[in-house]
Amino acid sequence: MPLRLLPLLTDRPQSGDHLGQLLGVGRVTVNTLARRLQEEGVLVRVSRAGYALEPGTPAPGLVPLRGEFGRALCYRGTVTSTQDELRFWADAERHPAPHGAVVVAERQTAGRGRRGRTWDTTHGTLAFSLLLREALTLPELARMPLAAGVALHAACTDLGVPCGLKWPNDLLTPDGRKLSGILLEADLRGEEARRAVLGIGINVGAAPQGAAHLQEAVPQLTRAEVLGEVLGQLEHWLAQPAPAVLAAWKAASLTLGRPVRVATARAVVEGVARDLDEQGNLLVDTEKGPTTVSAGDVQLVGTLNP
Ligand code: BTN
Repeated sequence: MPLRLLPLLTDRPQSGDHLGQLLGVGRVTVNTLARRLQEEGVLVRVSRAGYALEPGTPAPGLVPLRGEFGRALCYRGTVTSTQDELRFWADAERHPAPHGAVVVAERQTAGRGRRGRTWDTTHGTLAFSLLLREALTLPELARMPLAAGVALHAACTDLGVPCGLKWPNDLLTPDGRKLSGILLEADLRGEEARRAVLGIGINVGAAPQGAAHLQEAVPQLTRAEVLGEVLGQLEHWLAQPAPAVLAAWKAASLTLGRPVRVATARAVVEGVARDLDEQGNLLVDTEKGPTTVSAGDVQLVGTLNP
């Protein structure tokens, strides 16, 4: 029931009477619904002027969209994970989520990170998932994490935030603190992916201990603005051919040419990150010779100079 009120709210206050008329209820009920939304984690401001979402909330109508991604946008308070919420919507019998649909939430009770880790969604972070419904070949799927990293880098650079990429797609400040993370989950069918869900967490106005946030560099940035810019860049970069993605990734890299320690499923690889191969694998020069890493957690060894 409180979800009926949510699509009507914008960043401008609207009176209880007006909202009540739209919903066919009285203003006392509007107030109750607004309080329930607040309890669910939605940032509703209640003032003498009426009910509004906090400025910069990444809700429908408040995100400056450039292309098709995000035209179908679901904004929620608390969810388990936006990944689950988007899959649920994609599987709905009536009005299933289309290609480019986005679910964004204020809080996740079970946010997922790469390699089975949890993802802390604190107030001030932007957590969203994007649905890619077009069939993807396995090489296209393998390239997607790098393309998504390039898109995030392009968006944040355009917004004035200095940053670079750690393989495969962590966005870091020049001194090596994490600004955002990307999780790709795909449903495979034979030699192709039937659909993919790309989950992105960006520290916009707050960050967990040891990480960084975008407002450290550009204090006035809002989550709505960041979401619009990132979706525009994702739409562009996910459609680019492999050579263009690889070249852009290398230009944005904080990884290549540096000593690294890579934890893979089987071993720890230590050496100097030399290059990417055509599939986007990381080539590491180790004491025993060149090693190709297709998946793993990279630690940059030594200090980075801001
Ligand atoms: C990483 O480990 O660096 C990837 C983190 C990805 C987190 C995002 S937040 C939105 C989406 N929902 C999730 O549960 N995870 C992703």
